[in-house]
Amino acid sequence: MRLYLLLSLFFCFCLAFRKEPDFLIKKCLSNRYTHQSCSKVFCQPWEKCVEGTCICKLPYLCPKGGSSVCSTSHRLFRSYCQLKSYECLHPENKFLINGTCEKKETFTVSLEFGELPSEGIVQVKLVNSDEREYLCNSKWSITEANVVCRHLGHAEGALYHRYSNNSGIQMKAPNCLDVTCRGLESSLSECAFSKRANTNDETPAGVTCYLREVEPPSPDSFKCVNGKFIPRSKTCDGINDCADQSDELCCRACQPGSFHCTSDVCIPEDYRCNGEMDCILGDDESNCKGEESFETQDQGVRQDEVQVQERAQALNDNMDNERRKIKSLLPQITCGMRRITPIRRKRILGGKSAIKDEFPWQVAIKEDNQIKCGGIYIGGCWILTAAHCVRPNKAHRYQVWTGLLDWIKLNPEIQIHKVNQLIIHDQYSASTYQNDIALLEVKKQGNKKECDLPFTTPACLPWSEYMFRPNHRCIVSGFGLEEEFSRVYSLKWGHVNLIANCSKFYSSRFYEKEMLCAGTEDGSIDACKGDSGGPLVCMDSNNVAYLWGIVSWGENCGKPEFPGVYTKVANYFDWISHYVGRALIAQYNV
Ligand SMILES: *[C@@H]1O[C@H](CO)[C@@H](O)[C@H](O)[C@H]1NC(C)=O
Ligand SMILES: *[C@@H]1O[C@H](CO)[C@@H](O)[C@H](O)[C@H]1NC(C)=O
Ligand SMILES: *[C@@H]1O[C@H](CO)[C@@H](O)[C@H](O)[C@H]1NC(C)=O
Repeated sequence: MRLYLLLSLFFCFCLAFRKEPDFLIKKCLSNRYTHQSCSKVFCQPWEKCVEGTCICKLPYLCPKGGSSVCSTSHRLFRSYCQLKSYECLHPENKFLINGTCEKKETFTVSLEFGELPSEGIVQVKLVNSDEREYLCNSKWSITEANVVCRHLGHAEGALYHRYSNNSGIQMKAPNCLDVTCRGLESSLSECAFSKRANTNDETPAGVTCYLREVEPPSPDSFKCVNGKFIPRSKTCDGINDCADQSDELCCRACQPGSFHCTSDVCIPEDYRCNGEMDCILGDDESNCKGEESFETQDQGVRQDEVQVQERAQALNDNMDNERRKIKSLLPQITCGMRRITPIRRKRILGGKSAIKDEFPWQVAIKEDNQIKCGGIYIGGCWILTAAHCVRPNKAHRYQVWTGLLDWIKLNPEIQIHKVNQLIIHDQYSASTYQNDIALLEVKKQGNKKECDLPFTTPACLPWSEYMFRPNHRCIVSGFGLEEEFSRVYSLKWGHVNLIANCSKFYSSRFYEKEMLCAGTEDGSIDACKGDSGGPLVCMDSNNVAYLWGIVSWGENCGKPEFPGVYTKVANYFDWISHYVGRALIAQYNV
């Protein structure tokens, strides 16, 4: 009986596997994510993230560094970033060349031998050359083909990276050039051209650009967000076939040869450990051998790239390196770093006692003579807490205590701050606990310009709900009650796991968009009364702490069937930045 069951299970598994090598996540696809969705990818350095979408920066917001570039309309720009942000508003100004503008310079792309103007063999004339040259077929891919088509005005990119109508094109291209693009360039001149010593056996690269189709070409086609249809087999393989990346952004797993970011995005395998963060949580740059971590991002060309480039002669400046360099010049904020790493200590019922510097973002909110709630320092003068912890007319009665570890044995690091301003989410509902989030601004001391909060470090704020996934182990901390009734006076913490969908525990009282929940199998660690308003932080692969939740509510502390419910902070990134300013809390995409 058991054997039979096992066999049938196995059989079903095989069937399921064969029928559906489909890694796409339906629910995610309905959000229509593209390369401009900053909850899935980083914006370009000339873009910023506003309400989940990468939009053009104004040129003056570009970092100061970088070298000058010339546009197709022969206008000189101080940097590549400035040109790209200007191009956003004035698309006729495309990138032409790195350096200054000389008269007469042109870069052209044309398609030859095609039946239609939108297809054919690709020819280019580089800026420093008078000749039109073919591109080599052997290193040619859909990534470059998409850029060629976009360059020629086909926003959806290429249908195929081949042109093969049997009208007798059987030619060789012994003097062809190689080209490498990142895939999102608007002009082929932004890609890196090079010449190999031996291209005698090469044939020329061709392309069939995409023309609008009304009907899907086959029932198994995948419809990209830009409307283009691609074969389903080309989704979740790390390659941006759609040209808007929509085939790679909602993947529960990735095909071989590509890397799966925890945010369910597939990137090419060679983006892993290449010194640039591509996954929003940086998981592609962690556990790398040697010093190739994202900290070395500004060192430009890597060793293996140097070797390849020595064999092939570069024909233009590498603007991908320039893009990386600009990225490294963007302002950075420091958050989520602890000066010490937690050490093992005697376990205390329902959690462990915290020591100095372990939770430098944790604050206590005191009302009259009582610690009423926890709060989280997020930078500047700003504290986040739960809306149910505070009343608008009581701001003058609250005190924010930083550095507090034990309410009975006060430690010397404690600082007490008055509250200047209290902002409660205007859609907070005291009956459903929806939008249970509030901001406190502490008063500056004396006539200081900035808030001085020694012994604190802000927690990082997540900007995307895809940063941490169910089952991730996170940390809750607070001064709350232990078990049901006994009082606790010291800061405690414990590990809890994120739980996928709490509707099964709380049915209609759980609002998925605004809340999240976390707990342990046996309910031994939980947030309880008094912990309210305090942090649930999750660590990324570099041990940087993100404020993933604010302790909000829950039934019967410490029962596994009633996990703790938290305000989903990622859902409020724009709300928070509206009051505190984007520059204070945005790590990237500013
Ligand atoms: C190939 O070329 C012929 C003319 O030579 C044309 O009639 C046909 O439509 C073309 N086929 C494709 C797939 O482009
Ligand atoms: C662009 O040209 C300048 C000199 O004009 C040079 O210093 C810089 O390195 C070049 N940028 C790239 C990406 O090659
Ligand atoms: C969560 O569970 C509820 C009810 O059990 C269901 O209606 C909802 O679709 C689920 N959401 C997800 C993302 O699975």
